Amino acid sequence: MVSLRLLLLTLAALLGTSGVCAGHRFQQFSFCEEELRYYRDETEQLFRHAYNHYMELAYPFDEVYPIQCRARTRNFEDPLDHPTNDVLGNFSASLVDSLTTLAVLGDVSAFRSAVELVEQDLQPEFSIDSTVQVFETTIRILGGLISAHLYATDPTKKVYLGSDYNGILLQRAQKLADRLLPAYLTQTGIPLPRINLAHGLRGVPAEFQQENNAAAMACPMLEFTMLSYLTHDDKYKNAARYAFDAVWSLRSKIDLLPMSFSPHDGTPYNKFTGTGASIDSFYEYALKGAILFNDEELWNTWEASYYALRKHSRSDWFYANIDVNGGQLVLPWIDSLSAFFPGLQVLAGDLEDARIKHLMFLKLWNTYGALPERWEFQLPDSTDATSREISSVPLPWYPLRPEFVESTYFLYRATQDVFYLKVAWTILEDLKKSYKAPCGFAGLQNVVSGERQDRMETFVLSETLKYLYLIFDTHNELHSDSSNIIFSTEAHPLWLRASDIAAYEARQGLNDSHCDMIASSKEPSKKKSLIARIFSILMPSVCPKTQQRLPILHSGYFSAKSGERLERPSSAPICANTRSSSVDFLRSNMLSEFPRLFEIEHRYNEMLLKPNRLLNRTQMELNPKFYEMWSGWDRAEIYGRMCTCLATATTESYEMVFSKSLSDPKQPEARSIRQVPLSNGTSMHTIELATLAEVRLRVEMLSPGALDIYGQWIDPSLFKNASRDNGLFENIFDEPGADSVDDQDSDATIVNKFYRATAVDGMMLPHNGVVRLRKSPTFGPDIISDGLLGYNNKRMLLLGGVPVINLVVDET
Ligand SMILES: *[C@@H]1O[C@H](CO)[C@@H](O)[C@H](O)[C@H]1NC(C)=O
Ligand SMILES: *[C@@H]1O[C@H](CO)[C@@H](O)[C@H](O)[C@H]1NC(C)=O
Ligand SMILES: *[C@@H]1O[C@H](CO)[C@@H](O)[C@H](O)[C@H]1NC(C)=O
Ligand SMILES: *[C@@H]1O[C@H](CO)[C@@H](O)[C@H](O)[C@H]1NC(C)=O
Ligand SMILES: *[C@@H]1O[C@H](CO)[C@@H](O)[C@H](O)[C@H]1NC(C)=O
Repeated sequence: MVSLRLLLLTLAALLGTSGVCAGHRFQQFSFCEEELRYYRDETEQLFRHAYNHYMELAYPFDEVYPIQCRARTRNFEDPLDHPTNDVLGNFSASLVDSLTTLAVLGDVSAFRSAVELVEQDLQPEFSIDSTVQVFETTIRILGGLISAHLYATDPTKKVYLGSDYNGILLQRAQKLADRLLPAYLTQTGIPLPRINLAHGLRGVPAEFQQENNAAAMACPMLEFTMLSYLTHDDKYKNAARYAFDAVWSLRSKIDLLPMSFSPHDGTPYNKFTGTGASIDSFYEYALKGAILFNDEELWNTWEASYYALRKHSRSDWFYANIDVNGGQLVLPWIDSLSAFFPGLQVLAGDLEDARIKHLMFLKLWNTYGALPERWEFQLPDSTDATSREISSVPLPWYPLRPEFVESTYFLYRATQDVFYLKVAWTILEDLKKSYKAPCGFAGLQNVVSGERQDRMETFVLSETLKYLYLIFDTHNELHSDSSNIIFSTEAHPLWLRASDIAAYEARQGLNDSHCDMIASSKEPSKKKSLIARIFSILMPSVCPKTQQRLPILHSGYFSAKSGERLERPSSAPICANTRSSSVDFLRSNMLSEFPRLFEIEHRYNEMLLKPNRLLNRTQMELNPKFYEMWSGWDRAEIYGRMCTCLATATTESYEMVFSKSLSDPKQPEARSIRQVPLSNGTSMHTIELATLAEVRLRVEMLSPGALDIYGQWIDPSLFKNASRDNGLFENIFDEPGADSVDDQDSDATIVNKFYRATAVDGMMLPHNGVVRLRKSPTFGPDIISDGLLGYNNKRMLLLGGVPVINLVVDET
């Protein structure tokens, strides 16, 4: 096997980057198997370049400087240097975080050597005098150890270590978790952000423990629950799950969770939310926990939180940062971390929106060759080009974060669309050309100027390169595994074997040793009694005596609407290596048919200024040339049809949320938001009028001759007979009732303003879609005809006197 692979690599090297594929140069047509293998092997070489340099130059310290080529350690002189020290515990972080990448590569000898190093070199009790972040240590180190243990003990995996393996990774994981657990002993049950591995909470000054973010507080749930399954000790699971639920309980009335809190009393530190930094892995672990543990409650949490986001977050192209109480836009930026979200949407079965949201991050990558840490989508009021460049990327660095590759991976697995292979190939080329450094990979300090950053975080090894490898390695064992594998937020694969569940269940309830931990706590005695007191408050929920049964799932794909599990998409490899099949494939994919494909270009033109250093960069532009280049299209009629893009709308759009006071004050809880039927591909929707008071509407103002958001010219005759088209009304303007319409002289006084609803609760309505509003006893004409809200005698809803042509009250 090894020599065969070497031979292939040599062959590929001889052919250079333009290797042969079905008689054509790579890239000229679509991707064939041979080409994918070539890129896979290139990615593997990139990983080895980084990993080997780390091992040679920096191990056993945490990281290697990719440019200076020496060890990067925590700041030993200044233990309070948290920005540096939070993730660098002096525990060989790059080695531990790389274990599962070696497993994914299937390199059993390198994996075995790395496990041996963990056994020989790592402090066996994790009694290291390092103050670290609980969250980062959990996802990088604890998650890495647990996942590697699963690999080492699973006979179906290439790196199965068999009887050679003594369970050392799990033992180390448990020791580490025991060191982290005291962070959970707070009044609220949600964890403190930091802990000293040797000295516990004693080692951390109080001012560094005041604030923690929602993602960090909720997140360790997957790793800790896995640990309980594997060790049969429930304390980890109980502590982390209690914290997860406690965090979710701090959401607003409309199910939006603020980004950070005080762990001492749950006070929010801010009132906004989004999908990026500080909140990202909350959504992620709700959904992934539901899949991994087949947990109904976590599924409900995911669904409610995702529903609230879709409903309130305002943009078509990304989830913007919004106020948790009103849902209004507050911070006009998106951050690099939120690029993971389309991948999560894939897992939830919401492919269509995932593909659309991914395009925005692709556009950013095209512009900057990177994802800036923060990108602003609204100009302040500067007109000068230089300051615009600066202000559109207020946080300009790109430390080689994995999230964009991650989403691309999930989208490719689910759609098998070669488009995503092209995206991955672009990233691979950028890694080789722009980010490779003498001893690893160096990100950018500034994506505009191109200034480099002498840093390679461990996630480059554990996530960025792993996801990229997995995109090209279509036959990886993970892809044919039918168990409930998920990737942790650090890309460590986690799965629960039936045998592990059975062994766990056989002993369940025997060991609620969270309680014992208090007795054996090394905290000073004063603290101990405080902890005991706090613990007794939490006791009932932290140490439940009964456990739910958790049968194994067979697929990780759910339908977003019904929650039903769907078949995992087939993993048949794509090898569309002839011109005609490539064209057919493209023609059938959703993006090539998507009429708004080029809208981002228009809408965010001002905020997407390509840095000078990248002016010649063309490979991933979403333009006709791009499709022609990589799909081999040259037929004019397809070309023409394909590349018709929507002109930018000239209508004004508004968002409206009806305040609750409009509905029956006697029945304030009479809402059932989740039952509102929304767009499911049909053009007729029905909303109970009683629930209208809770609905978030997006409307556009129609005026004669304008272009609407569907790219349609608004025919002035619409204003005479618009409503006739749907068969519900006739001669609307000739009858009394419609405000501002003079029925005596229709030509002179034709109403020249209409609203049209374009989205209800965040779901786009199709063009010509009509929503029927069903009248209810609590929401009749007497309640709504107050000038703000009413309906005319053609039964069109009136908003401030302006009719909404497609919101129609149903009298029956
Ligand atoms: C950090 O780790 C190295 C290598 O394991 C070890 O020699 C050194 O004593 C550690 N330093 C501290 C302050 O823990
Ligand atoms: C309970 O957990 C402790 C600490 O993890 C362990 O030593 C003990 O063996 C466990 N007891 C049982 C019955 O599993
Ligand atoms: C872009 O390409 C042109 C022509 O190949 C070359 O003259 C120019 O220097 C390039 N610009 C940059 C910024 O690389
Ligand atoms: C869409 O919704 C309508 C009305 O609720 C329902 O009759 C129809 O079956 C749904 N269609 C699909 C494809 O789910
Ligand atoms: C208005 O009605 C006339 C006559 O029925 C029809 O020809 C025209 O297309 C309609 N206009 C619109 C915008 O529907």
